[in-house]
Amino acid sequence: MNIIFLGPPGAGKGTQAQRICAALNIPQISTGDILRRAMKEQTPTGLKAKSFIDAGQLVPDDVIIDIVKERLAQDDCQKGYILDGFPRTVPQAEALEGIATIDAVIELDVADQVLIDRLSGRRVCLKCGATYHVNHLNGETKCAACGEELVQRNDDKAETVLNRLTVYHAQTAPLVDFYQKKGLLKVVDGAQDMETIFQSIMDILKG
Ligand code: AP5
Repeated sequence: MNIIFLGPPGAGKGTQAQRICAALNIPQISTGDILRRAMKEQTPTGLKAKSFIDAGQLVPDDVIIDIVKERLAQDDCQKGYILDGFPRTVPQAEALEGIATIDAVIELDVADQVLIDRLSGRRVCLKCGATYHVNHLNGETKCAACGEELVQRNDDKAETVLNRLTVYHAQTAPLVDFYQKKGLLKVVDGAQDMETIFQSIMDILKG
């Protein structure tokens, strides 16, 4: 199955994509993770993307579309995948139609105030991609999965989070309507606990 996870920053797309991908044995394709890796390695794409990401703006469509095209052509994508954070604009969604057939779009719906709380407390592992919240870390500063030091993402600082939410509402939210009209959209209440959300998504995907 080829699946899209849609939702604002902090909605839990990455958290759920990791779990669902493990359950279905398909790859998670997170454009945010790909860009952060490119920034860490200082590749030309990473250097180009950095100023946009740090400002909470979207990276230009042509850069992202090329990244996704290349990734979806790899062997492990032939059995299905979850797109986590792509598409994010109508031109990206239109470009995707020329690359792939999508079976389901899962929208995680969460109110802005909850998102602000989640993102300001998020800590991430830049090595393996695991995500935590300070409220559940009990003072622990290392990744439980791989032992790497946890960090706060640059774009999780308060002012940038507000920019990201504004950008989401202006440029990405129109995709809800886009996929609704195609009969692909399923909405899940992303404010529930992680296990309930996981089960709801699995139920939808099992049809
Ligand atoms: P990206 O990395 O995709 O960031 P995002 O979409 O803003 O999403 P997040 O990673 O912030 O949130 P999430 O929904 O994955 O939530 P998470 O599971 O981590 O993109 C970063 C940047 O890259 C963009 O701003 C843009 O510049 C660029 N970019 C990426 N893709 C692009 C594209 N297609 N086009 C253009 N530019 C692009 O959860 C968040 C927190 O909440 C965690 O602490 C987690 O533990 C906690 N949490 C999760 N679920 C729950 C729950 N149910 N209850 C309580 N806490 C929860």
